[in-house]
Amino acid sequence: MRAAIITSSDTGYAGEREDLSGPAIREMIEPAGYEVVYQKVWPDDRQILEHEMKEICDSGLADLILTTGGTGFSPRDVMPEATLAVTERVVPGIPEAMRAYSLQFTGRAMLSRAAAGIRKQTLIVNLPGSPKAVRECLEYILPQLEHGLQILL
Ligand code: MTE
Repeated sequence: MRAAIITSSDTGYAGEREDLSGPAIREMIEPAGYEVVYQKVWPDDRQILEHEMKEICDSGLADLILTTGGTGFSPRDVMPEATLAVTERVVPGIPEAMRAYSLQFTGRAMLSRAAAGIRKQTLIVNLPGSPKAVRECLEYILPQLEHGLQILL
């Protein structure tokens, strides 16, 4: 399975803050057998995020896109909107499961607006922004993704 990692962060893109969440995703998925074919930090800019996700899906570069950041309430948080704009089929169960599981760690899990969906043969899943949230969400969903991706191919 080939995976792309996108971090949505204005401060990360500007070099004002080190992106720890993209690398946290990578650390978890590589041992699970994913080849990371793309890993980039982009600003919280809907046009850019949509363009990148479209390119990855339409070129068939990756089977899975995992994003981190931009799922909260800040006016600049637009990752769910960008994701839903490019997906052809919505996958509500994955973010529902992430939120339900994450509530045991923090009630603030309900504040994540994360979305997921399919464009062509690529599944896109939004994760929240902190490395801690990334680990908590991925440990729960990762074992289930493989089956979904196998059906998609
Ligand atoms: N989910 C888990 N598992 N663990 C967390 O610490 N943090 C929450 C939530 N989801 C959190 C979590 C918080 S504080 C926010 S504001 C939202 O994710 C949105 O985060 P984002 O804007 O960085 O994407």
